[in-house]
Amino acid sequence: MDVKTAILNRRSIRKFEQRPIAPEKLTQLVDLARFHATGGNVQPLSYAIVSKDPLRQKVFDLLAWAAYLPDYTCTKEHQPAAYIVLLRDETKTKACMYDLGAASTTIMLAAEEMGLASCVLAAFDPKKMKPVLELEDHLHPDLVIALGYAAQESKAVPFEGNIKYYRDENGNFCVPKKRLSDVLVYTDVD
Ligand SMILES: Cc1cc2nc3c(=O)[nH]c(=O)nc-3n(C[C@H](O)[C@H](O)[C@H](O)COP(=O)(O)O)c2cc1C
Repeated sequence: MDVKTAILNRRSIRKFEQRPIAPEKLTQLVDLARFHATGGNVQPLSYAIVSKDPLRQKVFDLLAWAAYLPDYTCTKEHQPAAYIVLLRDETKTKACMYDLGAASTTIMLAAEEMGLASCVLAAFDPKKMKPVLELEDHLHPDLVIALGYAAQESKAVPFEGNIKYYRDENGNFCVPKKRLSDVLVYTDVD
């Protein structure tokens, strides 16, 4: 898969088949994340891989899904096979939003190439996540990337003034994406 296809095909998936991910794939995703761009080359992030019960279940219980759709959630029967948790070293930085974006995008695009679906989540309480992962004190969980084999479809649809994703008659997700003309406000190329 080329990078362009991975970018276009990646959509957040919130319903997964109940089959495991090969452990070496999960390790490789973190190995690739090491190479993302990072301000000042500080590299403030480290990672936790969670794929085995009961920890996998405990992480699942802390996550909130699809805030725009109050009647939808990812159910236990369709929960992710694994998680990569992005951890910020609080001794190195108070916040590193850019690094978190770069790292999570790197992981999700690499996952896409491996045939894995993903959803990055910030809707959880880090204070509850920390003891679950038994993290060293200076490591703060900022983002969780849910991973697995997709059991639903999600597609980009043209933006018509509403940014909220919705579900179609088959229950699949539709994600409004702005047009090039909506986002390209200046260009000097012909
Ligand atoms: C920083 C960040 C935090 C997110 N947190 C959540 C979350 O807690 N729960 C969830 O279901 N989706 C979450 N998402 C997924 C977004 O809802 C999703 O990326 C957006 O609707 C666009 O859809 P797409 O990823 O399919 O293009 C998050 C995405 C980002 C980038």
